[in-house]
Amino acid sequence: MEIKYNEQERTFFLSNGRISYVFGVEKDRYLMHLYFGRYIRNYRGISRPYFYDRGFCSNPLPEDREFSLDTLPREYPDMNQGDFRSPAYVIQTEDGRRVTRFYYKNYRIIQGKPELTGLPHIYTEEDQEAMTLCITLEDEIAEARILLYYTIFRDYDAVCRHVEVENTGKQELYLERLMSMSLDFPGTSYDVLTMTGGHINEKNINRRPLQSDAIVAESIRGCSSPQATPCIVLMEKEAGESRGEVWGANFVYSGDFQAVAQAGQYKSTRVQMGMNPLTFGWRLKEKERFTAPETVLVYSDKGLNGMSGTFHDLYRKRLCRGVYRDKVRPVLLNSWEAFEFQVNEEKCISLAKEAAKAGIELFVVDDGWFRNRSSDKRALGDWTEDKEKFPGGICRLSERIRKEGMEFGIWFEPEMVSPDSDLYRKHPDWIIRSPHYDPILSRYQYVLDLSNPAVCDYVIQAVSNILESAEITYVKWDMNRHITDLGSLCLDGKSQKELSHRYMLGLYFILDTLNRRFPEVLFEGCSSGGGRYDAGMLYYMPQTWASDNSDAVCRLKIQYGTSILFPPVTMGAHVSVVPNLQVGRLTSIDTRFAVAMSGNLGYEMDLCSLPEEEKEEIKNQIAFYKSIREVIQKGRFYRLANPQEGNTAAWNFVSEDENTVIYCYFQILSEAVRVNVPVKLKGLREDSVYRLAQDGSCYGGDELMHAGVTSPPVLKDFVSHVYVFNRIQEFSCSDCEKH
Ligand code: GLA
Repeated sequence: MEIKYNEQERTFFLSNGRISYVFGVEKDRYLMHLYFGRYIRNYRGISRPYFYDRGFCSNPLPEDREFSLDTLPREYPDMNQGDFRSPAYVIQTEDGRRVTRFYYKNYRIIQGKPELTGLPHIYTEEDQEAMTLCITLEDEIAEARILLYYTIFRDYDAVCRHVEVENTGKQELYLERLMSMSLDFPGTSYDVLTMTGGHINEKNINRRPLQSDAIVAESIRGCSSPQATPCIVLMEKEAGESRGEVWGANFVYSGDFQAVAQAGQYKSTRVQMGMNPLTFGWRLKEKERFTAPETVLVYSDKGLNGMSGTFHDLYRKRLCRGVYRDKVRPVLLNSWEAFEFQVNEEKCISLAKEAAKAGIELFVVDDGWFRNRSSDKRALGDWTEDKEKFPGGICRLSERIRKEGMEFGIWFEPEMVSPDSDLYRKHPDWIIRSPHYDPILSRYQYVLDLSNPAVCDYVIQAVSNILESAEITYVKWDMNRHITDLGSLCLDGKSQKELSHRYMLGLYFILDTLNRRFPEVLFEGCSSGGGRYDAGMLYYMPQTWASDNSDAVCRLKIQYGTSILFPPVTMGAHVSVVPNLQVGRLTSIDTRFAVAMSGNLGYEMDLCSLPEEEKEEIKNQIAFYKSIREVIQKGRFYRLANPQEGNTAAWNFVSEDENTVIYCYFQILSEAVRVNVPVKLKGLREDSVYRLAQDGSCYGGDELMHAGVTSPPVLKDFVSHVYVFNRIQEFSCSDCEKH
């Protein structure tokens, strides 16, 4: 890993032996992007662009008609100097103008990676793991600096970028747009991958060609949202799951965002990621500094699987934190689909007894446990237990659950308040709203104004009171509506546009405080399912409930899409009843299990009402899962067949020590015309031999990866096959001769 500055060429060269990122200083003041891709030993510049005298191109250097910023590949482009493509930043000076001139000033190389105070970020455990380049751009007239940070990692093929702005003068500056990253690629012949969806339909993969204009993915919902994902991937046309060059950008932030891929008139492509300028603005007063969230850039020449592998490793090891980063995650049972709001102590205990028999390790009481919460119409904000439903309180419930041999967890939705609640009656000014209009309800609830420190303190205290009152080792943190009426009663008129980001800073502060106060608690994020399943949240909560849609077939698609960025260990996935409550589909317990165990396994059903054989089957499933969960939770995950495109889904996991391979194959609908299309496994050792645990037969890694595995057709819908292969030794094994 190295960061070099070439004095003569004026180029910065970041590399880790597998990827390289290069840019330079042009005409003494402008940053010019030069290369981001597979490792090169040196950059001498034979690919540098030529400049021409072109129509409508402004010339910042009066004597040079050929040089224009509109044609320069750039690192952090501005507005008002002749680059008419999408700007990375717009800063308003006190006179209301948006004209600034930030020029390259100097650079600094830092061993390690600086923290982003108050924001989620990729971290290092030792300075030797990473190096950071910090570039200063300065506008002497506006008296301000922009600091661009680039981190390269020894062990991950990623570059993290973030930006800070420093007001060094006396006037107040206003940040109108401040993207965290901007990157210009040569050519426009790319496909762009984004992810869209909605409630119970998260993380659909969209791939389409970039044409001569822009593709924008964004959210203004107050969170990253199920409708959009703060991710944009540029792909070579030939690239696919396993081959070709791809460049992925993922925002480590949970609020509103904008991701842009813009084709330029002279065949260049600009990619940007940052906070959404529609709901972002920031007053930067004298001597203040503002830090924008970071973006992770991943390059892979092994297609999307290669890119996802890097995101997975990096997020699992250097984004997720806390004791559960490395500990295996417990198999849980959640009360929601079994009881919804009609939950009570006796029902929980009967269910817990059954759960314990099945081998479940954690019992989670979902919504409905607190005072007056008989439906979703009331009581959010009043976080005290309902003594009618739980006469001994949460404390006795947790003790009784623990006696059954399980850990105990609980649900909260702390960012919200119901109009029918004591909290709202006492503090009607604590919600996000404009004083001039009635605020809009969604699921009968309002959003608390987390830009107000008093509200944050209340939330921390309310959650802490419950966590301190009983032995609780897990929290499901929900967020079930989006933000309307963007107004804060605690910010002055000129600062209202800061609300969306201040909300996120407030939320991150709350989560950080709770993480520190309760280091043993496993937090799971949720927003009506995967509505806020993003890298920002994973910093505080190492797992997320991937979707309220628990149907096994729909889940195949949702989990497949989610895996573009996030490792299976972060994906809450539960076996639920049939007919499925969301889609009415009947699927076998085997298939429901095979899908749920491909993530972080849980159950969400009334086990007491199941026939004995099914209870027995669940017990066996859980025992099996426990025997292989390290492979699922810590191994490498490879996508093999995409259920969003066809009638099958397939993936395989390879353990960290490469000794175990779990291969899952799903046939969605049964087809009259039966076909034999083997699926080629990935990530195995070509020269090793693998024994199939189910029948003892042995196969070479090369055969499994190149000839593939054909699964027997079954005349049924929604069929699953799970294969466990154990690596035995190098070729020439006498065992295999038998087969
Ligand atoms: C959301 C969650 C569900 C459940 C309910 C409770 O919809 O996604 O899992 O917790 O809230 O109200």
